[in-house]
Amino acid sequence: MKKILFGLLGILVAIQFIRPTFSNANVDEKIALQADEKVMSVLKKACYDCHSDETQYPWTKNIAPASWVIADHIKEGRKALNFSQWEAIDAKLKTTRLKRAQQLVSNGLMPVPSYTMIHKEAKLNSDEKELLKHFFDTQLEKLKTL
Ligand code: HEC
Repeated sequence: MKKILFGLLGILVAIQFIRPTFSNANVDEKIALQADEKVMSVLKKACYDCHSDETQYPWTKNIAPASWVIADHIKEGRKALNFSQWEAIDAKLKTTRLKRAQQLVSNGLMPVPSYTMIHKEAKLNSDEKELLKHFFDTQLEKLKTL
């Protein structure tokens, strides 16, 4: 039993050497999303840690294996949708992402449930979901007129 415990401890220590790198690119205000204050505050608390270059890193980013999960969420999240580069996203792709965002938010799949378990403040109530739905709708309407 002792051997197994020491073995596990050894593994936990060893994996700490595999450290992902974390960084935030500079935000260019000219292409970053601008929306009204209420919308911005909901997006910032619920989406920006994975979908922007304004990630606020938790202390667990230093501890494997949590650090690996966090790094992966941020990498894949930014790839899928980056609000810091909003105006630079191609209109067609933006339309697809906005429609998907509507579905994911209303189904409670975004923000990612494992994230809201830890970041309770990121869990959206029905008013906040409604606010985002309205915002996504307005953006979609705007894209139609392009
Ligand atoms: C903990 C990190 C995290 C948070 C917080 C988060 N997302 Fe995501 N999101 C991801 C990851 C990772 C992906 C890419 C993989 C996937 O599609 O599941 C993604 C993908 C997406 C996509 C693209 C999906 C597709 O299939 O094209 C949309 C749209 C999206 N998220 C919207 C949001 C919105 C809106 C919020 C806030 C209300 C949010 N996300 C919060 C991690 C996150």
